[in-house]
Amino acid sequence: MCGIVGYIGAKEKKEILLDGLQELEYRGYDSAGIAIIEGEKLSNFKAIGKLENLRHKTEAYHSEGFGISIGHTRWATHGKPTELNAHPHLGAYSYVVHNGIIENYQELKEELQADGVTFLSQTDTETIVHVFEKFNNQINNPFEAFEKTIEKLHGAYATLLITEAAPDTIFFAKNGSPMLIGFDGEDVYFASSDTPIIGKANEVYYLEDGEYGFVKEGKVFLFNAEGKKSFTKQALTADKVSAQKDGYRFFMEKEIYEQSYVMTETMMGRVHDDSILFDELDENFFDGISAIKICACGTSYHSALASAYLFERLAKVRCDVEIASEFRYKEPLLTKDTLFITISQSGETADTLEALKMAKRAGLRSLSICNVDNSSIVRESDAAILTRAGIEKGVASTKAFATQTMVLWMLALYVGQEKKTLASDILKTEVAAMLKTPKSLVVEEKLHAQLTRMSKRYLHGHGFFFIGRDIFFPLALEGALKLKEISYFHAEGYPAGEMKHGPIALADSTLFTIALMPKSMHYDKIKSNVEELSARDATILAISPEPFELADDFIQTKYDSHPMLEYFEMMVVTQLLALEISVRLGNDVDMPRNLAKSVTVE
Ligand code: G6P
Repeated sequence: MCGIVGYIGAKEKKEILLDGLQELEYRGYDSAGIAIIEGEKLSNFKAIGKLENLRHKTEAYHSEGFGISIGHTRWATHGKPTELNAHPHLGAYSYVVHNGIIENYQELKEELQADGVTFLSQTDTETIVHVFEKFNNQINNPFEAFEKTIEKLHGAYATLLITEAAPDTIFFAKNGSPMLIGFDGEDVYFASSDTPIIGKANEVYYLEDGEYGFVKEGKVFLFNAEGKKSFTKQALTADKVSAQKDGYRFFMEKEIYEQSYVMTETMMGRVHDDSILFDELDENFFDGISAIKICACGTSYHSALASAYLFERLAKVRCDVEIASEFRYKEPLLTKDTLFITISQSGETADTLEALKMAKRAGLRSLSICNVDNSSIVRESDAAILTRAGIEKGVASTKAFATQTMVLWMLALYVGQEKKTLASDILKTEVAAMLKTPKSLVVEEKLHAQLTRMSKRYLHGHGFFFIGRDIFFPLALEGALKLKEISYFHAEGYPAGEMKHGPIALADSTLFTIALMPKSMHYDKIKSNVEELSARDATILAISPEPFELADDFIQTKYDSHPMLEYFEMMVVTQLLALEISVRLGNDVDMPRNLAKSVTVE
């Protein structure tokens, strides 16, 4: 959610900023902007919509010589996506970019307005630059003014500020939103994640909450509440595995096709013929643990829900799952025999991160399942298992979800194995199925073509119900979320057996029901549920290995002997269906409206 870049040095700044923002664009694309100060010369550009609009606007501009620069790509929180609300925000002689939310901005704004300050935007961010200038006008010391400014801010932020009052310095602060500093000799970079600076910087420092400071003449001056502090840089990988579309129409499409391959990566070194190994977990990790609590948001929450069935069924460990934003404020009862698992594709989701911090304060052991190494959630957890899905650019998550589910399945087996609650023959059967997973995820041209044709029949109607039972219920939730995210149709996931308790009232010919009907799990039960809907004239798209005569549309799947293989195969069908409906509607598949890839605000 939102992206920040910054650079101080003698290189061409516009390109550094725009290239960096390009890497972050999937995090927010309501607007983008840059500000550069070179000696006496101050330049600022903003454009609404995609970054290409900003590129276009800055075509004639080139920076020269030493200077300081900041850039931002926005996912709107306060105020509409207009140019005035785009960052960087300007005071009288300073610019600021910010990720996060300043919770007390209204109060600060009123104070400033009473002093005669005029606000140009509706954002919370603009208060930062005015508070700074107010202090600096009083004390004429930009660093002290910045320090006093951040003392005043409540909430989550990562912010960069440049000012004509110190044209050789970038001021920075981090609290709750990610930010890092990259180094290459005298050149210093800032970014809200490492992708914009890979290939540019060779060393990096990930700022901790409460840290702030400034950069001048290639040196970083770092502070926290205790005063000045030293820090250790770490090496930054030089491999730019920057995702390209490789001939696919959309990143999401490419990522669906990649699932088969990345699943092999996820399993590599971890799945053996009769055992599961996680080098990341020391052998005593599950000692004293008798329950599992999982917190996550969005798609990650759905993988968590599916895993709760597996932890209880396979490992015989009690497992409950909560949406992180709900967990945070419910005053949960936490006991130390509970392992606290967070699941996050980005590792930066604010609600999930805060839930993790709460669990840690309560003394719980923590484990994160994440796709991004060195992310805030990974660094905050006692242990982490990386999903190895590779960079996921499509905002609607596909391969990250698939690999999360796989890690959780492996973990359920691992816990059963370590706690000796899982019989060795069951473990062997599960592993044998697991090894077939990459095959179950291969997208066949024929299937994709069938879904492309079929999608034209689903461009209207008053809603979609995705229904399933057991682990296919969370898959139904995820199928509905995918469709919702990129088609903007109303879609709901429901436990199939629950339809008769209310939602069936909606059934008519323009209620589209996507029925997940696996052969290896409760087939007869779900069949009856679907028959009930068909009897009320609902339009049924059945996905099953078993032909179903009441289906209006039918996708025949191949796997019928293991629920997880059926799960993964059906997952692909729901992803492709959402993709093709979205394409027909002419929507932006990779950057759907109103969404962002990682949500670093509450
Ligand atoms: C956002 C994204 C979703 C994602 C959710 C959780 O809402 O748009 O696709 O599932 O955040 O993100 P995480 O990175 O924690 O998995």
